[in-house]
Amino acid sequence: MRQQHPRKSVTASAPAKVNLILKCGLPEEETGYHHLFTVFHSLNLRETVRFIPRADRGFTISDRYLGESGQELPIPSTLKEMPPEKHLALRAAQILFDKFDLPGGGQIEVSKRVPVAGGMAGGSADAAASLVAVNTAYDLGLSPKELAVIGRELGADVPACLLGEVTVGTGRGDRLHTLSKMPSRIWVMGINQKGLATPQVFKQADKNPENLSIRLPQDLTEKEKQVLAGENWEEFLALLVNDLQAPALVLRPDLISPLQAVNALYTQNGQRLTQAIISGSGPTIAAPARNLDQAKVIAQTLLSCEGIERTLILDGPSEPAKIEEVEE
Ligand code: C5P
Repeated sequence: MRQQHPRKSVTASAPAKVNLILKCGLPEEETGYHHLFTVFHSLNLRETVRFIPRADRGFTISDRYLGESGQELPIPSTLKEMPPEKHLALRAAQILFDKFDLPGGGQIEVSKRVPVAGGMAGGSADAAASLVAVNTAYDLGLSPKELAVIGRELGADVPACLLGEVTVGTGRGDRLHTLSKMPSRIWVMGINQKGLATPQVFKQADKNPENLSIRLPQDLTEKEKQVLAGENWEEFLALLVNDLQAPALVLRPDLISPLQAVNALYTQNGQRLTQAIISGSGPTIAAPARNLDQAKVIAQTLLSCEGIERTLILDGPSEPAKIEEVEE
């Protein structure tokens, strides 16, 4: 039966992520996509997408870019210059329209909080929120798992933004299972003015294949699961790894000094404050903190470094993509 044209506008949200573990294998011959083994930790920095149905077949998309207290920030040029048909929130809506032969179109309003081209899956979170909003607006009844299968077609990180929480990813990082009982953790993110294009970082990684993981694990070991769930700070820091960090730093050597500055921080008792890493394909710097006071010290240190535009103190894991509001 053909879907009825909906009368309701739906707002949905989806979280950003940081990769606790990102092991990158060799690229697939046909597609160039890389095999990954990764652990996504979702963050309480959420993109919101409002889908307003339209009777005609047209689609429009608009963005607002918001700071941590909800203030409007200037829209970054990467986003301003992006052709609308490349916007993942729009592509996500259109993929559902095509698959389910939905009538009409939509006005899509995106409120972005996640840095653009920052390695935190902001674009993928837009797609995830958009899928959830259209699913509800048209009463499609798709489960999170079914949406994740569709999300995979839009981008490798979309399933992780749909499922939120802490997930283990294999394949392209898009075949996931959720880890339960993960503790809340604080993350300090150092945001750069300039973004970094993900394909460029993967290409740089291919130039030194000896640095890639030849044999990728298929799951975490029991010990690794215990460390992720536990409170041993040193063991947790030792688990953090990102194979895309070295190629990202070749492209952006300016990130080396803020990483070093943060990694040189110690408590008065001689304990390391953190282990800063590049988030995903970068250029955002991500540093976990044991508590809010230490997070503030890390944020101050990052801010004193050249090129760091602002910092965010976030916590996670965050909930899966979800409905925020339905307006009948
Ligand atoms: O899937 P997504 O569109 O987010 O990926 C952006 C780009 O990153 C891809 O076009 C590809 O160049 C690279 N990529 C990759 N291997 C992955 C994920 C992404 O090579 N597993």
